[in-house]
Amino acid sequence: MIRVQVPATTANLGPGFDCLGMALELYNIVEFSKIPRGLIIEVEGEGAGNLACNEGNLVYRAARQVFDRAGYMPAGLRIRLINGIPVGRGLGSSASAVIGGIIAAKMLCGTDLSKREILALACAMEGHPDNIAPALLGGLVIYASVDDEITWTKVDLPAGLKTVVAVPDFTMSTRDTRETLPHMVTMRDAVFNIGRAALLVAALQKGDLSVLGTAMEDKLHQPFRSGMIPGYKKVVSAARLAGARGVALSGAGPAIIALADNNQELIAEVMKETFRESGVNARSLILAPSPVGARALEVI
Ligand code: HSE
Repeated sequence: MIRVQVPATTANLGPGFDCLGMALELYNIVEFSKIPRGLIIEVEGEGAGNLACNEGNLVYRAARQVFDRAGYMPAGLRIRLINGIPVGRGLGSSASAVIGGIIAAKMLCGTDLSKREILALACAMEGHPDNIAPALLGGLVIYASVDDEITWTKVDLPAGLKTVVAVPDFTMSTRDTRETLPHMVTMRDAVFNIGRAALLVAALQKGDLSVLGTAMEDKLHQPFRSGMIPGYKKVVSAARLAGARGVALSGAGPAIIALADNNQELIAEVMKETFRESGVNARSLILAPSPVGARALEVI
């Protein structure tokens, strides 16, 4: 049996739309076992009962890309998914599925795939490199691509930095919310985001958390998405008042992520409670950044 662990991710971090993403210590586990014939897919945890358990399953579809490329197909395959990452909340569950499927399939058929090849294959399927790259590589990743050329680098994170993630009990489709975003932005808004994205990366690298309030502001996507989340502004303010250094939408939402080096329990409580006051049931998770990306846990 092959077992692969893949972290959750939070993309954008405010200003880094489609360029910045960070892995979190919350994981999906993908297990592949060869069986004599057929396809069996079992899902436990997040998404159980909702995710496809047939050839349409995203983990399986990702695996098929690798099998087809390698010219290999197991006689039969059992896939067991033990999911810790909430689905459809902006925590990279699709990226995790795609990366998990690719790596498990690569191990099953013994084919060689470089990190660069895995990134390209996964991005072609999932389309969000700011989730894919940290899911594969761990840590905070800056990602840029032009045509087929991929460039990335990892940013060192300060010790003691944690995230508090408030996860509402409703889902939002990344594709649908992207359709609400403008196709053109003003130079003023572009400059607003460039400055803050640069500030954010430098501040995290230096451990200067005092500027994160400004550094996590954004004009490119949050103003258009946040209106779809009841209580968004109140939750952000409450988290800041409780001691969060900076707060942003996690990926396309609806989860909201706060970065904090203190008071995480209090921040978690006030974010959940403020959502509740706005009529939204939410849970709060306190998660450290995951320095490791996807990795094989065991091969039996
Ligand atoms: N950068 C992507 C977006 C991430 O905001 O649409 C999707 O999780």
